[in-house]
Amino acid sequence: MNIYETDRLLAEYLLFHYGAPEEVLPHADGPCSALDYPQRCVSECLDAARLPANARALDLGCAVGRATFELARHCGEVIGIDFSRRFIEAADTLRAAGEIEYLRADEGALTTPRLAVVPPEIDRARVHFETGDATDLRDHLGAFDVVLMANLIDRLSDPRRCLARLPGLVNPGGQLIITSPYTWLEEFTPRENWLGGFVRDGRRVTTRDGLEAALAKDFQLIATRDLPFLIREHARKFQWSVAEATIWRRR
Ligand SMILES: C[S@@+](CC[C@H](N)C(=O)[O-])C[C@H]1O[C@@H](n2cnc3c(N)ncnc32)[C@H](O)[C@@H]1O
Repeated sequence: MNIYETDRLLAEYLLFHYGAPEEVLPHADGPCSALDYPQRCVSECLDAARLPANARALDLGCAVGRATFELARHCGEVIGIDFSRRFIEAADTLRAAGEIEYLRADEGALTTPRLAVVPPEIDRARVHFETGDATDLRDHLGAFDVVLMANLIDRLSDPRRCLARLPGLVNPGGQLIITSPYTWLEEFTPRENWLGGFVRDGRRVTTRDGLEAALAKDFQLIATRDLPFLIREHARKFQWSVAEATIWRRR
């Protein structure tokens, strides 16, 4: 069973992407800087001033779509692609209706009905969602001025195959934003396909090393930064992680 097709993960991601800060983290002494992650993947990593008019953007592994909508603040057309049929159905309901109901997990079987809402000032007509496999994307997607891959790379069975497609997807001068906590797990990625997180020939290889090896011919690394994020599992359990964002420009 793909965990990204379950009720639990769907509700967790709707809250992660659309929950108000005080709802996701009702504790003043908690890690507030980790809130609003999908928004910060765009606001802290995209160089909006460099975008052409009517820019096209692609959000690969978009889940329930918050970063896709955030990209639409700056781009005329945004495509969000995810492997999870349920995530894309929810994202598409948000696109069409601007909102979707879900049940927030509280404790055991206790839940609270909630409404996820797309910020009303975002032009939802700029956004399109579809299911797809980031390692086997359909033809005719066209070229993009921005490609965002947020917390995707360490969930792919063959991340190098996904990276190999990127030069053909990003326009010269275009922006590629990859964020990840680099949580390599064999249940998602066979060890021989990990980009980093191992010793080879007596040397520690990091995921940043692996990304540079795969991308440097076609992309220049412009900046890196830490991006903390917080996922609320239930009322008293939270996952706090620190993704690394690597920001690249197509040569
Ligand atoms: C850790 S979540 C991150 C989602 C979102 N980008 C975020 O930052 O919240 C990983 C996402 O990648 C999707 N995914 C996993 N394998 C995929 C694949 N081969 N192609 C496209 N999406 C995939 C999952 O369905 C899930 O939505």
